[in-house]
Amino acid sequence: MKRTLSVGLVGLLSVALACDGGSDSKPSKPAKSSAKGKAPSPTKGEGKPEADSKAAQAPADAGETKAVAWTWTLPGGITKAPEVPADNPMSAEKVALGHALFMDKRLSADGSRSCYSCHQNHLGNADGRKTAMGAKEKALTRNSPTIWNVGLHKELYWDGRAPSLEKQAIGALGGGNMGLGDTLAAKAAEIGALPEYKAKFTAVFGLAADAKVEPDHIAKALSAYERTLLCGDTAYDKQELTDAQKRGQALFMGKGGCMTCHNGDNFSDGIYHVTGIGIDASDEGADPGRFKVSQDEKQKFAFKTPTLRNVSKTGPYFHDGSVASLEEAVTLMSGGGKPQDGLTVDPLLLDRKLSEAEVEDVVAFLGSLECPGALEEIGDQTANGIAPPKG
Ligand code: HEC
Ligand code: HEC
Repeated sequence: MKRTLSVGLVGLLSVALACDGGSDSKPSKPAKSSAKGKAPSPTKGEGKPEADSKAAQAPADAGETKAVAWTWTLPGGITKAPEVPADNPMSAEKVALGHALFMDKRLSADGSRSCYSCHQNHLGNADGRKTAMGAKEKALTRNSPTIWNVGLHKELYWDGRAPSLEKQAIGALGGGNMGLGDTLAAKAAEIGALPEYKAKFTAVFGLAADAKVEPDHIAKALSAYERTLLCGDTAYDKQELTDAQKRGQALFMGKGGCMTCHNGDNFSDGIYHVTGIGIDASDEGADPGRFKVSQDEKQKFAFKTPTLRNVSKTGPYFHDGSVASLEEAVTLMSGGGKPQDGLTVDPLLLDRKLSEAEVEDVVAFLGSLECPGALEEIGDQTANGIAPPKG
């Protein structure tokens, strides 16, 4: 599709797109462009996009009228850029818009929390809680994962029920996290009409002057921002390890067998395993995990292998936050999970017979995966139920 559209066509195109619902099925590599893009700094230090001088067009079917300048600057240890859906090309302006939205508490039903509230810097970009508490103090059932490298996950959530960041964002907005429910579309229009946002949405998505901002636009901007949240350049990536960390690395990759599942740039195979941890299989109300999505009996109580980047800061651990310390988490994982009556754990999970000292070394190694970057906060980000930064 040509990028040059007459003003009249733009309106039509946005309408057509609104019906299409946003297909996430055709990921494409981010494109480079000759247009000069202002490189925002969504984070202090990590995954900063930069304008590139080589000419190339971005995928062009999102009702966006401007050529898009985008190229990835990947931190050390991240070898592949996040996949970008064809209908949501990256641009510096979109990322900046998504950043502002990610930090905006007005997006929640009661104004009590932003997306960032549960994905905070000082809590490893999670929330430090066992399980999350959403808008209107709604108790949620799962532990908040870190937001780093979410662009590298093929499927989102502990059970992978969201096939794209865009779909995940709609889930977070409409579901218990932000609590919008039926008011999602009205909220999107309200936020999109605010003076500080209106011109930005119009420019980024090529909207007609009188067009309403849709939940899809918000989800796309949030997702573009999230794709820039790349964690690399850690002590591990630079191989600047202490002796204990070196021993831990050898155990992680060898005797401990951790690499069989926690592998690749993001220390996750992206698939679902039964570990038995956080599950009382005899309890009828137990979280069925992946089974709820796949209806595959073998995936009953299976959860996605989480990233281990920043893990030393994201406790409590596991999908239900049932384990407080990293030592205990590593002890459970290296001990073969928690097999129970009527529940067979993944065959890759064996009792590796690590000594206490070896567990300590693995914990030290995991400390080498701490992310050096931080999300740039906008506005007051204290939220009820979430510990503020110390000091
Ligand atoms: C109330 C706390 C809370 C708020 C607010 C919140 N999240 Fe989350 N987030 C969570 C929890 C809990 C999960 C895991 C839920 C699950 O797996 O079922 C999660 C998961 C995610 C994931 C998937 C991570 C992964 O590893 O699969 C992304 C991406 C994400 N959130 C982005 C957002 C965005 C964008 C917003 C704002 C629209 C947001 N979150 C608001 C708590 C929160
Ligand atoms: C069979 C695949 C598999 C193997 C092998 C494995 N893990 Fe895991 N790991 C998982 C899954 C799946 C989860 C999430 C389980 C849950 O929350 O229900 C997990 C969770 C974790 C967590 C908690 C992370 C968080 O954010 O809550 C840590 C820490 C961890 N693993 C470390 C290790 C270590 C260290 C080893 C090696 C001793 C190891 N794992 C071996 C699959 C595996």
